[in-house]
Amino acid sequence: MEKIWTDLGSVDSLKSQPLQEIEVGKITIALSYNNGKFGAISGVCNHVGGPLGKGTLDGDYIVCPWHNWKFHRTTGFGEPGFEEDRVPQFELKIENDHLFINTNSITNRNKLPHPPHSLGRDVIRENGPIRVVGISTTIMDSKNPRYSTSDKLLEVAINHAKNELGAQTMFIRLNDLKFRACEGYYSKSAKACTWPCSITQMDETDQLVQIYEALVHWADVIIVATPIRWGAASSLYYKMIERFNCIQNQITLNNKSLIQNKVASFIITGGQDNVQDVAGHMLGFFAEVGFVFPPFPFIAHTRGWDAEDMENNIAYVEKSEGLKEGAKDLARRSIEMAKIILHEHVSEQKIVKAGRKAQPLKISEN
Ligand code: FES
Repeated sequence: MEKIWTDLGSVDSLKSQPLQEIEVGKITIALSYNNGKFGAISGVCNHVGGPLGKGTLDGDYIVCPWHNWKFHRTTGFGEPGFEEDRVPQFELKIENDHLFINTNSITNRNKLPHPPHSLGRDVIRENGPIRVVGISTTIMDSKNPRYSTSDKLLEVAINHAKNELGAQTMFIRLNDLKFRACEGYYSKSAKACTWPCSITQMDETDQLVQIYEALVHWADVIIVATPIRWGAASSLYYKMIERFNCIQNQITLNNKSLIQNKVASFIITGGQDNVQDVAGHMLGFFAEVGFVFPPFPFIAHTRGWDAEDMENNIAYVEKSEGLKEGAKDLARRSIEMAKIILHEHVSEQKIVKAGRKAQPLKISEN
């Protein structure tokens, strides 16, 4: 192939950085200098396009800054064991103390197939009764469990859905799952926040996969229960929902709503107050991910700002038939709303992003 040489600049100035990203026309290059030798490979990672020139060097391998895939800085080969997963290599020459690059790469990109994560399959609702998942977000010492008002009311709602309303049900206590906090891939780039979640794909021990599976693929209804902690939902609730960025981000990246025709409702209890603030947050967040709500989408209970006698709070909830009936009726309203939207086949059109969120993203292809 014809060689097209482009002057990248003086050798002295280019030597000063071990790794840098350089644009040559429409081509992005990861230019490196190590042990007296330059290397030039495509600056676009094979995984989901991370900027290799903005990564780091590990010996003669460039480490992608998004999810740490490695490519040899001069040949473009993947790291040992994955050599054939390679990015294009570019030829370099030095003339008159200037570095030149042949912009026709001397090797081609080759992507090895990676087995897809099962969460990434198409979202298809299987036939069957309405499916309800309850997610309890309270935190406790699971070896020495205590009475939790939000957890107990959720149990009432889920048992009612199963035993009286004919739903299939699942109950997940977040406290029983081991999962990592969101590590901010989105903060590097919207494109670095992948579906399935980058953490889920990299770490098969991460158990938030159970929540993703239930929310995206299995359930028609989710009922989330939280205590009120210092006026907010539980810290475990926040740890979970930060990991849902990858669900919402599919709208930004691919105009794809992973949550369609699903209903969310909430159980919020606290010894003291701030129900409306917690409910407002939960409604806003789950709306933004794509859920819809039944009429009166939450039930809640507190005994007020100065009710520090927590033993009496537990006793109140334990005895309250009204709260138990409220939990059952929340399940009924949620299931009925799910039946309405499934029966009516609500539109699955793409989301119109303008005016809502997410301007178009520039996606580099080379
Ligand atoms: S490792 Fe490079 S984009 Fe994911």
